[in-house]
Amino acid sequence: MTRHLITSAIPYINGIKHLGNLVGSQLPADLYARYQRARGREVLFLCATDEHGTPAELAAAKAGKPVAEYCAEMHGIQAEIARGFRLSFDHFGRSSSPQNHRLTQHFAGRLVEAGLIREVTEKQVYSNADGRFLPDRYIEGTCPNCGYDKARGDQCENCTKQLDPTDLIDPRSAISGSTDLEVRETKHLYLRQSSMRDRLNAWIDSKSDWPVLTTSIARKWLNDGDGLQDRGITRDLDWGIPVKKGDQDWPGMEGKVFYVWFDAPIEYIACGAEWAEANGLDDAAWERWWRTDKGADDVRYTQFMGKDNVPFHTLSFPATILGSSEDWKLVDYIKSFNYLNYDGGQFSTSQGRGVFMDQALAILPADYWRWWLLSHAPESSDAEFTWENFQASVNKDLADVLGNFVSRVTKFCRSKFGEVVPEGGQPGPREAALIQELTTRIRAYEAHQEAMEVRKAAQELRAIWVAGNEYLQEAAPWSTFKEDPEQAAAQIRLALNLIRLYAVLSSPFIPDASDQLMAAMGSTDWSWPDDVETALATLPPGHAFTVPDVTFRKITDEEREDWQARFSGTRD
Ligand code: 2FM
Ligand code: ZN
Repeated sequence: MTRHLITSAIPYINGIKHLGNLVGSQLPADLYARYQRARGREVLFLCATDEHGTPAELAAAKAGKPVAEYCAEMHGIQAEIARGFRLSFDHFGRSSSPQNHRLTQHFAGRLVEAGLIREVTEKQVYSNADGRFLPDRYIEGTCPNCGYDKARGDQCENCTKQLDPTDLIDPRSAISGSTDLEVRETKHLYLRQSSMRDRLNAWIDSKSDWPVLTTSIARKWLNDGDGLQDRGITRDLDWGIPVKKGDQDWPGMEGKVFYVWFDAPIEYIACGAEWAEANGLDDAAWERWWRTDKGADDVRYTQFMGKDNVPFHTLSFPATILGSSEDWKLVDYIKSFNYLNYDGGQFSTSQGRGVFMDQALAILPADYWRWWLLSHAPESSDAEFTWENFQASVNKDLADVLGNFVSRVTKFCRSKFGEVVPEGGQPGPREAALIQELTTRIRAYEAHQEAMEVRKAAQELRAIWVAGNEYLQEAAPWSTFKEDPEQAAAQIRLALNLIRLYAVLSSPFIPDASDQLMAAMGSTDWSWPDDVETALATLPPGHAFTVPDVTFRKITDEEREDWQARFSGTRD
């Protein structure tokens, strides 16, 4: 049986992520991991924090903390919030781990041996006052394109033009504000990915089943003009993975570190090694997931990410893997997402605009957010979060359809038969029709989950909940009970079994509610409904259950207005 290796793009360490980040990688990856586990398949689901680069250093400086301390603290905070959202990572690692240091240096060693790295001497801005080079965001100045006076060395935020630090007019250090700057020569390593264009093209061509969003971005970068340029993979920074060839020093590269986008994807692999160590396992335990020469032949590897990350995962990271000529597992399927916008604008980390993960959990439990985000995932186009839509979906899908079904069935049973599955009566044509409809719908639900069609899977699940409601409405056991209590017993027995079935099917989307329903049904039987008729006879007559507390409550208009106002501005 296929084993599933699943990774989510690893979030930057500099601050708490917003709901747009969550729905673009970690949450759909969790849905897929939970679904595969529910089908009894072996899964290794990995994520980590992306801790290097100028954003981490600058965020630490802003917080007034040493960068290592800042990263350790933020990792703890992000891990806690991930638990709050029930993200079921087998390991939540750190790109600053010793395992990633070793592996990144190992890959660099292999690439230089293969002739795929060249040394380049280039000009960079050096700050005499700070005693260091000022790469990327460490330098600010006036944009030569639009005149904005706070443009950064890598990009102007105002007109979005990509810049080089030496382009800026009146440049100054973002650390000290000093203008005592000069241009000095410095040496850097470049990955010769342009020499791998044919191999990468052939590899992308072989992926005919990939989503168009993924392949169109990859092809654009591979074939458009100067798309696949050789890429600088080192930086003049203190914080990062020191440049080495394996465990050997690299003459001329002293004091330099690898570029964050070189080591971040390697952390997917290193995270496997961290997972093994954290669980007292040996190297063979993680290598059977990651090395095709060590047992990973039956592994299917799926990556989840936002569209901005696609070029790095379709070109740069595969270039690293292929270039190493070692038997590392290459990705089998890349599921990418468009953007989620917020109430007429964009979510923005730098401007603190939108709802952030900690804020979301402070106002409602995880399942409410999980349901809305996944059922509105930005798959075929960008999507938009509005408070009206959020309120409407939660109230209708979760409270009216699912929650109401559970409440009516369990309360009716308690009042007429007590808190046990009632006995007597026989299923008739109406029950047979329901089983047939559910069978068709559950097979469709499985197909959507397998294909990672997130919205379609949510729609089908909702339709499965609706089918139960319609059955209850037509069977009307409260009326049947008056003339034929035995038949009402059979109807309610089926409906109670349907609650257990809903717990199983819904668990990838709303795991807490599923746990609550399963516990209320007094069951621990999570087996997947391969045969619906058998699944609906799991809880036998006489089996005890309890009436659960409200599964989902409605969001009031006052709450919606309050939240809308509270989250209309920007966060500090
Ligand atoms: O865009 C981001 O949030 C990056 N931190 C994603 C890195 S994914 C991978 F390469 F590690
Ligand atoms: Zn500009």
